Amino acid sequence: MADRADRKLDHIRLCTAADVTPVCYPPARTTLLECVELLPEGFPVVSVDDVETSTVFLGYTVAAPIFVSAMTGGPSRAGELNRSLARVCQKMRLPLALGSGRPMLDDETLASSYDVRPEAPDIPVLANIGMAQASMLPVDRLSWLVERTRADALVVHLNFAMEAVQPEGDRDPGPVVETLTRLVGELGHPVVVKEVGGGFTRGQIEAIASTGVDWIDVAGAGGTSWVRIEGLRGSLNDRRMASTFSCWGIPTAAALGWAERSGLSNVLASGGLRSGLDVARSLAMGARLAGMALPVIRAMDSGGEESLERLLGSVIRELRLAVHLCGKRSTAEMADVPTLLLEPLRTWLAD
Ligand SMILES: Cc1cc2nc3c(=O)[nH]c(=O)nc-3n(C[C@H](O)[C@H](O)[C@H](O)COP(=O)(O)O)c2cc1C
Repeated sequence: MADRADRKLDHIRLCTAADVTPVCYPPARTTLLECVELLPEGFPVVSVDDVETSTVFLGYTVAAPIFVSAMTGGPSRAGELNRSLARVCQKMRLPLALGSGRPMLDDETLASSYDVRPEAPDIPVLANIGMAQASMLPVDRLSWLVERTRADALVVHLNFAMEAVQPEGDRDPGPVVETLTRLVGELGHPVVVKEVGGGFTRGQIEAIASTGVDWIDVAGAGGTSWVRIEGLRGSLNDRRMASTFSCWGIPTAAALGWAERSGLSNVLASGGLRSGLDVARSLAMGARLAGMALPVIRAMDSGGEESLERLLGSVIRELRLAVHLCGKRSTAEMADVPTLLLEPLRTWLAD
């Protein structure tokens, strides 16, 4: 148990102090969102300040299609972080995804570190668990996780590369499609499936969609590399393996393109999103909301809640400007903006 708590603190320390993006020679892996050119068809129709950003997610009206991606829970610092994230998300009316609930499933005294409802009574809150645990645990333990955290959905994260490089990782994720199908049928709460910075291929997206899950978050490559983080934590051997595989994964824009071509409508974008323009490009690629993790934890580390509020405020302002420049009235209309896909994204998405 202590190991797991230490691991979460290691993760937070490395994310705030080290370069944890993928390094490949050549070229560095990016989200490929930079290959998505937005093509305004007309001229601005409303002033930047009047751009409508609100959207509905999991039954709540939120202020913008932006969420804080899954990060923390467990050790005491993670609990404080969760409460801070919750206060900022509540103030800004944005959804908050909690970090993996595995520590509280192992030790129920840690549940209070996920208890953000006093701070965040009326925004969507998402509980989180890894695929390996989801496949091993009975459904009522997973329902308990959602209900104890008073969350609105359960996010199941798939992180095969990370687990394989993590010295104490779960090498066997269990049967992915069967587990998701069982959860969809029996959990009694919406199910979201995400990666952790490795994205999904078209085949994987279609397999996940066939289980009937409510949302897919592509969480693609180009942002935080969990393979790299585990390499930084591990022995020389782990480091070698992590450096070999640090560019494993599907760039966020490619995964979004495949999800859109598969006809999915409940798609979330994350993995390397760093600006409101990235969010705008993700919406044009079919995402309904977009999430960020690393910039959030770094903002909290550098200046606490105020700094996070500033970061999210500027991402929303950038998003508004992108919508305005695309000649649209609302973020919802960004789905209709024509895009020009540049290389190498074009090749990724070629049939
Ligand atoms: C400090 C930290 C802890 C994280 N913990 C979790 C977690 O417990 N569960 C999960 O699904 N993803 C976790 N993630 C992954 C993020 O939710 C996200 O998928 C990934 O970091 C890519 O987004 P980014 O490039 O904006 O960081 C974590 C990310 C960070 C930075």
